[in-house]
Amino acid sequence: MVHLIFMQRITKKEETLIVPNDPIIPYIEGDGIGKEITACVLNIIDKAVEKAFEGNRKIHWKEVLAGEKAFNKTGYRLPQETIEAFRTHLVGIKGPLTTPVGEGIRSLNVALRQELDLYVCQRPVRWFEGVATPLLHPERVHVTIFRENTEDIYSGIEWDAGTPELRKVLKFLKEEMNVVNIRFPETTAIGVKPVSIEGTERLVRAAIRYALDHNLPSVTLVHKGNIMKYTEGGFKKWGYALAEREFPEKVFTANKFKKIENEQGVDAAIRYYEEGISAGKIFVKDVIADAFLQNTLLKPEDYSVIATLNLNGDYISDQMAAMVGGIGIAPGANINYLTGHAIFEATHGTAPDIAGKNLANPSSMLLSGAMMLEYLGWDEAGRLITKSMEYLFSNGFATFDLSKFMKNGTVLSTSEFSEKIIENL
Ligand code: NAI
Repeated sequence: MVHLIFMQRITKKEETLIVPNDPIIPYIEGDGIGKEITACVLNIIDKAVEKAFEGNRKIHWKEVLAGEKAFNKTGYRLPQETIEAFRTHLVGIKGPLTTPVGEGIRSLNVALRQELDLYVCQRPVRWFEGVATPLLHPERVHVTIFRENTEDIYSGIEWDAGTPELRKVLKFLKEEMNVVNIRFPETTAIGVKPVSIEGTERLVRAAIRYALDHNLPSVTLVHKGNIMKYTEGGFKKWGYALAEREFPEKVFTANKFKKIENEQGVDAAIRYYEEGISAGKIFVKDVIADAFLQNTLLKPEDYSVIATLNLNGDYISDQMAAMVGGIGIAPGANINYLTGHAIFEATHGTAPDIAGKNLANPSSMLLSGAMMLEYLGWDEAGRLITKSMEYLFSNGFATFDLSKFMKNGTVLSTSEFSEKIIENL
């Protein structure tokens, strides 16, 4: 029996994820609409896997507790067993979790990311025909965002205004670091923004490898290095250095283009660019975050894989999701590409206003499930799901949140939508 369980574990050997035909995959049902969407999503994944592999592969779902269900059963919102299950089985999926408002309670999502050091927050963004969008050409959006998940101003190193700790920090800054440009020292709060070479390199490496594996044309480093020279500017500098050092045969860079232009003139730089294009290499470039947000609306086709820091990545992910229909259909995953740990998730919250009414759109979690299948190397099953969704949306079938914006849309409940997905797999 123990042997059997061992055989069913997903493991990682060097660069390769080893996935048995019958892996155990832990899942968190989630709070609010989690209950409704998770049941539907696991069922659809099962049907897609069965169909794609003619019954030769099957996921063994293992429920693990988190959020309100965990609290009611165990007294803890994130029991240690849950973290251990994800640690042991490497790959998991989760519904949304309530973050109770109040001092001292961390977001469970953040806690899981930190415990497993899931340093990439990965968000693919694409448009489904039929889904209402504010863009003129949503079909030009094919982007995968790699947001750094462990550093930046998000690290939680902050001191509140007026506290003894803050006064200590101010004294240090003033007396030992000669900082003079804090405008209102008596009423200021301070946060710290750590950005490291290691943190940058592992993120940019994952983004470039993803572009290589998926035959994508470019990786764009999005940053505010014009203002924050050492942190955001460091991200850009170290990102380029990593690309040129570790992938010299596979990429060409805007950084090197500029260097050649300065040293040898514009013709030599253009030759370098054209050689890169004709050799089918990946173009690594960078853009300032504010210009990037504007460009995504005006010429989204310029971008393919995005690598960015935590705060920029947060804004970019939601903006780009809105460009193709909102967070109701935006999938996401938090991944550590070194250890293989990955948790795929719905990107929206628990939607308490519609919970229990069979109205919720399961698409975000469903597409996260398709991402998970691709991560396992079970792409065929993932494709069945996305194709079925394409069919439904282009024929006006959707849950209320999307169908109300569709011309001649047909409103389906959560369960009706899920049944229709299965019907059309
Ligand atoms: P929310 O995403 O739950 O809801 C915002 C709006 O979007 C609501 O009108 C809701 O009805 C709608 N909506 C969200 N998902 C939908 C879906 N699948 N289908 C149809 N409509 C949908 O955000 P809110 O209200 O700010 O947060 C509620 C709770 O969720 C909070 O406790 C928050 O902390 C938590 N949350 C959890 C997240 C996670 O676990 N990843 C992410 C965001 C929020």
